[in-house]
Amino acid sequence: MRIFVATHNVHKLREISQIFPKFEIVADDPVDIEENAPDFAGNAQIKVRAIAGRHRGEWCMADDSGLEVAALGGAPGVRSARYAGEPTDTPANNALLLKNLAGVADRRANFTCSIALVGPDGREHSAVGRCFGRIALAPSGKEGFGYDPLFVPDGYDRSFAELSADEKNAISHRGRALAEAKRIIGC
Ligand code: IMP
Repeated sequence: MRIFVATHNVHKLREISQIFPKFEIVADDPVDIEENAPDFAGNAQIKVRAIAGRHRGEWCMADDSGLEVAALGGAPGVRSARYAGEPTDTPANNALLLKNLAGVADRRANFTCSIALVGPDGREHSAVGRCFGRIALAPSGKEGFGYDPLFVPDGYDRSFAELSADEKNAISHRGRALAEAKRIIGC
């Protein structure tokens, strides 16, 4: 079986392939769409709808995810990829996050992942996963992507970027949302 995934992010594709080992994961990045919904679920829906018409009778999936920091009122939120401006600049995003949290004691944060699915029958489904933790004072680790070097999940003293892929998938926002997606797909 195949799942068409509306992303070009190789890190996300790898995580999805690890969680759906029996499926062929096919990237179909929708171009020329505006991710202008106010929340992750809305943006995931925009992305999956942009590709579903091309793959009738198949499963299509999109994820929209990001980091929400309590002391910053939920920022960077839906702007996580473009926090320091466009195009996406991960070192700049991480540097801006640390700058905005300089001297802030409350480092609580969570990642959220919303998944939108369109089934072979054309019906839409959704799943959500969250992972709570805190923002470290400095980056550490080389695995993963995005804000991983700065995010320390609750119960750990290592950042996401210091965890193995299996360790991250077991507790991450995306791992949890994909586990729910697996139940929806029935595999
Ligand atoms: P999206 O591709 O529009 O969903 O943007 C997601 C952005 O949120 C990414 O560019 C990262 O900055 C951040 N993000 C989402 N998931 C993760 C993760 O698992 N680790 C680190 N950063 C993430």
